[in-house]
Amino acid sequence: MSIRIDEKERLFSLETVHTLYQMKADENGVLLHTWYGLKTGTDMSYRIRTVNRGFSGNPYEMQTRFDYSLDTLPQEYSTDGVGDYRPSAVQVTLANGSRSADWRYAGYRLLKGKEKPQGLPGLRGNAETEGLEIKLEDRVSGLNAFLTYWLFEAQDVIVRSVRLENSGDEAIRIRKAASVCMDFPYGTKEVIHFHGRHAMERVAERAGIPQGGRLAFESRRGMSSHQSNPYIILCDPDTTERQGQCWGFMLMYSGNHLEEVSADQAGSVRVISGIHPEGFEWMLEPGKSFQTPEAILSFSAEGLNALSRNYHRVIREEVISPRWRDAKKPVLVNSWEATYFDFNAEKLLCLARSAKELGMEMLVLDDGWFGKRDDDSTSLGDWVCNEAKLGCSLKELSERIHAEGLKFGLWVEPEMISPDSDLYREHPDWALTEPERLPMISRRQLVLDMGREEIQDYLFGRISAILRDARVEYIKWDCNRSIANCWSLALPEDRQGEAAHRFMLGTYRLLERLTEAFPEVMIEGCSGGGGRFDAGMLYYCPQIWCSDNTDAIERLEIQRGTSYGYPVCTMGAHVSACPNHQTGRNVPLETRGIVAQAGTFGYELNPEKLTEAEKETVKKQIETFHRFETLIEGGDYYRLDESETDYTAWMFVSPKKDEALLSLVTTHVRANGMFPLVRLQGLDPDRIYRREDTGEELTGAALMQGGISFPQMTGDYPCEQVYLLAMKNE
Ligand code: GLA
Repeated sequence: MSIRIDEKERLFSLETVHTLYQMKADENGVLLHTWYGLKTGTDMSYRIRTVNRGFSGNPYEMQTRFDYSLDTLPQEYSTDGVGDYRPSAVQVTLANGSRSADWRYAGYRLLKGKEKPQGLPGLRGNAETEGLEIKLEDRVSGLNAFLTYWLFEAQDVIVRSVRLENSGDEAIRIRKAASVCMDFPYGTKEVIHFHGRHAMERVAERAGIPQGGRLAFESRRGMSSHQSNPYIILCDPDTTERQGQCWGFMLMYSGNHLEEVSADQAGSVRVISGIHPEGFEWMLEPGKSFQTPEAILSFSAEGLNALSRNYHRVIREEVISPRWRDAKKPVLVNSWEATYFDFNAEKLLCLARSAKELGMEMLVLDDGWFGKRDDDSTSLGDWVCNEAKLGCSLKELSERIHAEGLKFGLWVEPEMISPDSDLYREHPDWALTEPERLPMISRRQLVLDMGREEIQDYLFGRISAILRDARVEYIKWDCNRSIANCWSLALPEDRQGEAAHRFMLGTYRLLERLTEAFPEVMIEGCSGGGGRFDAGMLYYCPQIWCSDNTDAIERLEIQRGTSYGYPVCTMGAHVSACPNHQTGRNVPLETRGIVAQAGTFGYELNPEKLTEAEKETVKKQIETFHRFETLIEGGDYYRLDESETDYTAWMFVSPKKDEALLSLVTTHVRANGMFPLVRLQGLDPDRIYRREDTGEELTGAALMQGGISFPQMTGDYPCEQVYLLAMKNE
């Protein structure tokens, strides 16, 4: 039994393979957070010390207990306005204008059989998945908070979410509803977050937490954003890739989000994560509920690589659709950097033919095939093939591509509308705009009000018609701007604070309908590259285009940052032409190949323009990828270069630890330089592994402790790849 409840002590212990998550309702019904860490087999509330810190008041019923304060106790889901001055998990306005919420324990329910949170993506689980629901009530307003916990034992993951229910007689405005709140009363902590910008997403940065201060990682762009991923890691200062305690907080949401990390007067650290409260307000009528997104939590005492592997496993096994989990994905060629908007059917067929000769398996027709679109100024929303441009119908083009032996994929950007489009001329009120204000324009496009059902229906109708007409195996679902002027014609004045979340719910609903109606079509997520790379989108899209930056050297940093939370099988990665279109840099084709192989391998170039020697290299690359595909997509991934600046190294180890693939790219070649030494991870210390390139035989222990050294490398960004095979046990 992984959920243990001590009724008398009102102690709740949730156990995964290695971890214990624990909370306890005290004598006042305050739900205290007592532990999240390795299993201890103990009621961890013994660690809670109370002290009168001064200016930290006491609940009314604790008149003389000056040491008992909501401001100093570790809270499971913090209150607001009643004496906890740290960041609150919830903020409300009652009908009379008062703004407090005072949570007290009101019972629990054991759950079995995972359900998706209403209207939102969620971890899949199955009929056996166990969960716990704890009811907290605010006795004055009748607002209840149902805290839900689902256990994913094998992956050491706990999934939390909250449902707020109005059991009173008057409407309550929800101004903030976090998915998770967690207090860490002891020890200095650091936070790792993933910041960025367009074409440089998810750069990992580690920061201290200022005493008495608060760090905020956030997006108010309507999308989870290039700028701040909804995933943070809290860790001890001495935690490294290989050792130490770390806690992951990943929000399964693709819209506005806020992760707050604060340290209070006594150094106690609080983490809060959820929908961004700024601009958000939800009118909760009597009898109604509001559901927060799920937060995926994990703990490891064995360093950051181990924490990442928990996330990789849970995303592969419980987020991605089972249909695509183990499916081999075709090596694709995408038309974007090959042709941009300049193509017709004949040109695409030449591309397809030359791609096929090299071993590529699918042609993805990117932006520009619909409406009157020859640049980015027009036609979003007009999802009808531009036959005049192509010289044939989409159906015919797809048939001809299939006749060349390739699958066919298509780009769409459903949530957007160009002011210069038939759709806008017909429905100008479908775009998110504010009364009497000129809207913010970005990439010359506006955003559809996705919360409205008629708009979802229109898009479902158009996209289904295309998928029924032409044979399309793959959709690239783009989203190329941030939201502004978030005002919906469909909502009354006092509910406009719901528009951004309703946008996300509408997008999820459309994705849900399309994936149900066309389960055989794989959707790749995209938002100007990786502007919406999150677990919410991964529920519908098993892979996401990682970045519009295809420069292999820049990709090392982007893919490395992404790997802290997301498995390589979700990271869209392509070999592109040199000089690179974003940086102008030249990187050897071999290095570009190795980098793209640490993702969903494909190409983003015109194969006809390659030299004969390059074509041979590409053929070999595709063969190598297929040889190692199972190891790469299904193996354990390790980052290896934590203290180095001159190279980046990573490796894959098969689940049985009988084979491994090590890749290394030198990012800075130095004259008379050092020999790179890479200490491997994840091998069986007692087995002997043979290096395929040199024939050397070494124990796993030697490879992990002593490592592999490489000769000094010269030239531009040289790379190495070493395959290791475990020898049969005698
Ligand atoms: C975005 C995508 C690119 C490409 C263009 C097309 O920027 O990330 O890969 O599809 O849109 O307009």
